[in-house]
Amino acid sequence: MLLPQMDDSEFEDFRKLIHESVGISLSLQKKQLLMTRLYRRMYQLGINSYGEYWAHVLNDETGSEMVLLLNAVSTNKTDFFRESDHFTFLKNEVYPHLQKQQTIRIWSCACSSGEEAYTIAMTLLNAFGGVLGGRDAKILATDISTRMLDQAELGRYPVNQLQLIPEVLRNRYCKILPETNGEMFQVSSQLKALIRFRRLNLIQEYPLRTQFDCILCRNVMIYFDRGDQEKLIERLSGYIKPGGYLFVGHSESLIGLQNSLKYVQSSIYQRI
Ligand SMILES: C[S@@+](CC[C@H](N)C(=O)[O-])C[C@H]1O[C@@H](n2cnc3c(N)ncnc32)[C@H](O)[C@@H]1O
Repeated sequence: MLLPQMDDSEFEDFRKLIHESVGISLSLQKKQLLMTRLYRRMYQLGINSYGEYWAHVLNDETGSEMVLLLNAVSTNKTDFFRESDHFTFLKNEVYPHLQKQQTIRIWSCACSSGEEAYTIAMTLLNAFGGVLGGRDAKILATDISTRMLDQAELGRYPVNQLQLIPEVLRNRYCKILPETNGEMFQVSSQLKALIRFRRLNLIQEYPLRTQFDCILCRNVMIYFDRGDQEKLIERLSGYIKPGGYLFVGHSESLIGLQNSLKYVQSSIYQRI
């Protein structure tokens, strides 16, 4: 693909806008990546210069072009059972305690296309023997990308991802779709019923009043600068119930960030 030129001041305009809107911090080395991602959207619009696209974003008073720009620039890689030791910890250390509670709240706060939230749902249900027994259990799953949230709501994934899901859970909660020639599978409505997908920006005030037993904030703060990481952890900490847990990605850590959480083990923290 032959991309139009982007000069350094145009890069700086987009970099600043993206940073201020969602915290994603792009270095100059990411210029080519940004150009490629923006160009996909520009191509749809028939726009062939980054300056013209910049004006298009700023002139759109509805804000919907900004949503699409953010869809284009976010990195969404995820998987079922990604960083699987977190789900082992949930099964062994967290779910047994939740079994004693009537109300259960878990938040997957950068859920991408939903695999993380569905993994929580299937492991939670499985830990409870497949029935919640009248408990009020809810998983909130949020992301900035509306494109990812649409995929997450759909709950359909390529069959090659089934291999990531343990056989018992696969058989119980996933169904291959014959109308896709067996290429896609669908997660069960029992899992879907547990989850609410919503758009939420992690670097702005949250419209939430709930406190959570667990928050999974994995593989997102790696894109933020230190100041935004610190604010994020401080804000999220206030949404964790005393005794509840925060999970961050394996390549992330709270080392060097001011916080009030107790270190439990690598990438797992607890509110005292
Ligand atoms: C790499 S994915 C991580 C998905 C999942 N948590 C995992 O670990 O597999 C990062 C997600 O963070 C989202 N994201 C980036 N900035 C965000 C923000 N300011 N607020 C909410 N979500 C954001 C992206 O849209 C993307 O889907």
